[in-house]
Amino acid sequence: MRTRIIGTGSCLPETVVTNDDLSKIMDTSDEWISSRTGIRERRLVKEETTASMSIKASMRAMENAGVSADEIDLIIVATITGDYVTPSTSCEIQAAIGADRAVAFDINAACSGFMFALHIADAYFKSGIYKTALILGAETLSRIMDWNDRSTCVLFGDGAGAAVVRADETGLLAYDQGSDGARGKVLACRNRKNNNPLVKKPMDMEYTSMDGQEVYKFAVTTVPSSIKRVLDEAGLKVEDIDYFALHQANIRIIQSVAKRLKVSEDKFPTSLDHCGNISAASVPILLDEMNRNGLLKPGMKIVLSGFGGGLTWGSAVLEW
Ligand code: ACO
Repeated sequence: MRTRIIGTGSCLPETVVTNDDLSKIMDTSDEWISSRTGIRERRLVKEETTASMSIKASMRAMENAGVSADEIDLIIVATITGDYVTPSTSCEIQAAIGADRAVAFDINAACSGFMFALHIADAYFKSGIYKTALILGAETLSRIMDWNDRSTCVLFGDGAGAAVVRADETGLLAYDQGSDGARGKVLACRNRKNNNPLVKKPMDMEYTSMDGQEVYKFAVTTVPSSIKRVLDEAGLKVEDIDYFALHQANIRIIQSVAKRLKVSEDKFPTSLDHCGNISAASVPILLDEMNRNGLLKPGMKIVLSGFGGGLTWGSAVLEW
């Protein structure tokens, strides 16, 4: 038994914000942002919410898979920006799409979240508990940015990506994941303040902070080794892989991973130029763009890799 992706869907907010738009509200420039990150524009929510985008992405993925709501056993949303602490985004999706039989819960593994959700679904399938799942990465990161900190707020965007996965004869060939909590504070965002009047010293730092260079070093060392491990486990070589769909943090990270693996950058499709970094949603949105652009053919071997906050990482090799 393997876990196969049988349909994809995504949803981006309507409002496009270019680097030039940002340069009108803060001291930055298209030249600085695009040369260091590859990002040219991103979509940011106005009316949309994490749940509203997730519901649209889910319906598109189910339509693409030819699966109806009553076939879904499990809904997992990877997010750090659910609209509510409770109910979970996945429970909101369940109600909206009418997947009454499904068990629904959210997980937090930041930018690796979609990969972790894939692995959880795979474990359920292998144990025989469930057969069909809807897994998502969905974020409204613009809500947790410090818009006075130009070094972080220019990097991120909002959006949702979904995939329907099913127990099948082919699909996920190998998986690798890990966590390094000791380095967690290099990319952090504190939850709500404690406003209990008995607490003398309230917590600060409500918005996202990042040590960009430490995150860069983490990504360019961890991701190539994680990808090599999944390839070894699957008995494949880098030359056997048709595409590497990586978390869309930064073009320089992707270029460095390509160089370290000795693979042409052409095999690394990107969406970060028009999406920015959407944390857990990056990988499924990219996958949906690849799928809808006709890049993915049955039998192709694809590597997926997510990495980021926690710190966490997860890589998979799958047969499409
Ligand atoms: N516009 C103009 N200038 C800026 C901006 C901006 N948006 N942001 C920072 N600067 C300035 C800084 O103030 C600093 O100026 P100074 O030298 O006068 O002090 C200068 O640019 C250099 O700042 P650094 O933070 O050192 O910039 P760096 O070259 O490291 O680039 C970047 C920052 C692009 C984030 C880089 O560290 C990087 O690629 N990091 C990888 C991590 C990453 O991409 N994280 C994304 C999220 S994490 C994830 O998804 C895994």
